[in-house]
Amino acid sequence: MIPITKPFVGQEEADAAAHAVLSGWLSQGQRVQEFEERVARYTGARHAIATSNCTTALHLALVAAGIAPGDEVICPSFSFIATANAVIHAGATPVFADIDPRTYNIDPAKVEAAITPRTKAIMPVDQIGLAADIPAVLAIAHRHGLKVIEDAAPSLGAIAGEGRVGAMSDFTCFSFHPRKSITTGEGGMITTDDDAAAERLRVIRSHGASTSDLARHQSGTTAIEEYRELGWNYRMTDIQGAIGVVQLSKLETVLAARGRLAARYGELFAGDDRLETPFVPAGYRHTYQSYCVRLRDTRPRNAIMEELAAQGIATRRGVMAIHLEPWYRERFPGVSLPETERATAETLLLPLYATMTDAEQDTVVHAFRQALG
Ligand SMILES: Cc1ncc(COP(=O)(O)O)c(C=O)c1O
Repeated sequence: MIPITKPFVGQEEADAAAHAVLSGWLSQGQRVQEFEERVARYTGARHAIATSNCTTALHLALVAAGIAPGDEVICPSFSFIATANAVIHAGATPVFADIDPRTYNIDPAKVEAAITPRTKAIMPVDQIGLAADIPAVLAIAHRHGLKVIEDAAPSLGAIAGEGRVGAMSDFTCFSFHPRKSITTGEGGMITTDDDAAAERLRVIRSHGASTSDLARHQSGTTAIEEYRELGWNYRMTDIQGAIGVVQLSKLETVLAARGRLAARYGELFAGDDRLETPFVPAGYRHTYQSYCVRLRDTRPRNAIMEELAAQGIATRRGVMAIHLEPWYRERFPGVSLPETERATAETLLLPLYATMTDAEQDTVVHAFRQALG
């Protein structure tokens, strides 16, 4: 079986988790704090705030950005469902903008066209590990006084020209689900340069408590916390924090291995006009959550996926069109996004993970070419 992904974890992560368990401090504490500090340093952001996953990170970032019921947030539909769900959880309305068919990321021209008096934020997604055109999105946001909350779930380590993902937008949200650059099982992180927002994010991720458990524990006093606003329990555990610290030290190794495999897929598929390989703009670094290919006049995509599955090769559809999923279709009828709809019908994701061997990759390429017909 060749899976769609394999997390790059081993004894070091197991030891770190065991150490956290045996320390007697299992919930959010010093290990989460250390992980946050390291992510902030890595991305170049002033602050990093850990959360239970990226969906909760997006929800909190929207709240911290002041998004409230009645507001509109422009985002792509070509994304995992969590992007739009987070906007709904914040009480706001997602307004879907179409994508650039080369990058599969939100098209800045379509963003500009979707702005209304109710628009309060833009939520670009760095899809499959390729940063969106964040400089263009930021320029639009500045012109219209909007916040930018970047959904960088798969993109820790991605680079967009001069900018590193995590240090460009008002808020950037990462995922540590096992399919992402690095993993803590489940987990998320928000990076921001906004001091006041960072402080508020730390409060509202923990029920709105004015002091954290760790601060109360370390104070050695009977400090009693206050609850001045409504919060959530969106905390990361110290077991996850400990794993995250180890994982972050391996991130560049993981990205180098994934980059090499992606380049090798590109060489192996060169000249095959039945498919299109990923486009990476000059100066960008892709983290390759998976290897996305677009089919050109082949057999139907699902038949190809089924044939590969029968041979023990996992694939996934190339993301989704959120506006076509039943919950959204019922509530947002009549949305038409031609590039998104085409991309979701014509793309599929091939396996790619740091420990994939050349022999495994050759097996995928051979089976895929046969299945194309
Ligand atoms: C683009 C995007 N946004 C958000 C999420 C949600 O991340 P999490 O599973 O950590 O909540 C994902 C996860 O797959 C994603 O790919």
